[in-house]
Amino acid sequence: MLEGKIVLLGISGGIAAYKSAELARLLVKEGCTVQVVMTEAACEFISPLTFKTLTGRPVYCSLFEKSHSSATAHIDLAREPHLALIAPATANIIGKIRAGIADDLLSTVLMAMDRGRSPVIFSPSMNSTMFSSPAVRDNIKVLRQRGYLVVEPGEGFLACGEVGEGRMVEPPQLVTYLKSIIAREEGDYTGLTVLVTAGPTREPLDPVRYFGNLSSGKMGYALARAASERGARVILISGPTALDPPEKVHLSLVSSAREMYHAVMEEYPNVDIVIKTAAVADYRPEECFPEKVKKGKEIEVKLVRNPDILKELGLNKKGQFLVGFAAETEDLLDNANKKMKEKNLDMVVANDLGVEGAGFATDTNVVHVLYRDGFVEEFPIMDKYQLSHLILDRIISLRSS
Ligand code: PMT
Repeated sequence: MLEGKIVLLGISGGIAAYKSAELARLLVKEGCTVQVVMTEAACEFISPLTFKTLTGRPVYCSLFEKSHSSATAHIDLAREPHLALIAPATANIIGKIRAGIADDLLSTVLMAMDRGRSPVIFSPSMNSTMFSSPAVRDNIKVLRQRGYLVVEPGEGFLACGEVGEGRMVEPPQLVTYLKSIIAREEGDYTGLTVLVTAGPTREPLDPVRYFGNLSSGKMGYALARAASERGARVILISGPTALDPPEKVHLSLVSSAREMYHAVMEEYPNVDIVIKTAAVADYRPEECFPEKVKKGKEIEVKLVRNPDILKELGLNKKGQFLVGFAAETEDLLDNANKKMKEKNLDMVVANDLGVEGAGFATDTNVVHVLYRDGFVEEFPIMDKYQLSHLILDRIISLRSS
């Protein structure tokens, strides 16, 4: 996957720069051409000679180096790579790129890169208090909004002696991540049809009232967008939301659980992957009053069961890959696991509704992903679009294994 790719490895000045030597070695082993650009501070931590030896290429550290064959070296360096990885990325380089400051070779090259063509990925590494400071959090948020990719750092012992979030992700994991980025760029979902359900359902009580829930559709729409960007034909079956549908996605609007059931069942035989993010009402009023219910004496509403769409899909599976979501307020993993078995799913994405930034109507989510073999993967808080790509990475690699 990485063979033949040109990777710009940007190294800024942090202690984790020693890990970048291993990263460069692994990338070369994968068949990449690795072009290293270091900041002055990075050169204090590790010698450019190390990278020159590992990559077999000159290493650039300054805008005004005599060894540059061209007067516009920063533009040449920006044009060549298929992607750029800044590892470690310090608070300084993150802040500079957010603010548009290009005052050394690395920041100038990054600013000159055409991100429509070459993704730029930051792998932060810093003290945990720095990482959680409002300035760094805000800079990362803005970079992501502008299309840069920022890998969440790991937790553990930091060089400063503290324990917390801020460790640079280990080189083998970064290599795996780069592979998934290249796969996305190359359209790894081309030829596949993905059905996504999103949003809430509305279960009518009378012509103007319904039973509903807080789902905004953000999770499902983000998944539909990400799958479409990766080349899939996407069918988005959505309950009522205030969102604009992603481009190139076939949108089917429904309201109640029963409408969603019929829409899903009609498409099911012709799809490869189903991702059910919709918050489907398990119950509906048995009776929908034909006229608006007037206030007066108390009324009793009998609720009856709606069809369990996902269970039905699981029972009638003919090669489709089925992904369920589980929204839980207690016993997250046990309940999610139960759903996987009861509904014959291939994967469950479980959000713990008690965690801040997770679940309904937020821009972010915090999930555990459960697999059929019992493995459970925990993801840190991230925006729903970024999470969508990670979920799609997992689905595609399981389908092809
Ligand atoms: O839309 P957002 O505001 O972005 O919020 C996202 C979300 C919280 C809605 C989403 O992340 C999520 O968790 N969706 C599933 C919510 C849910 O209904 O969970 P559940 O545990 O009740 O259902 C489990 C699975 O069965 C779900 O995939 C659901 O789509 C499916 N189901 C449930 C009931 C039913 N009658 N039919 C179904 O197909």
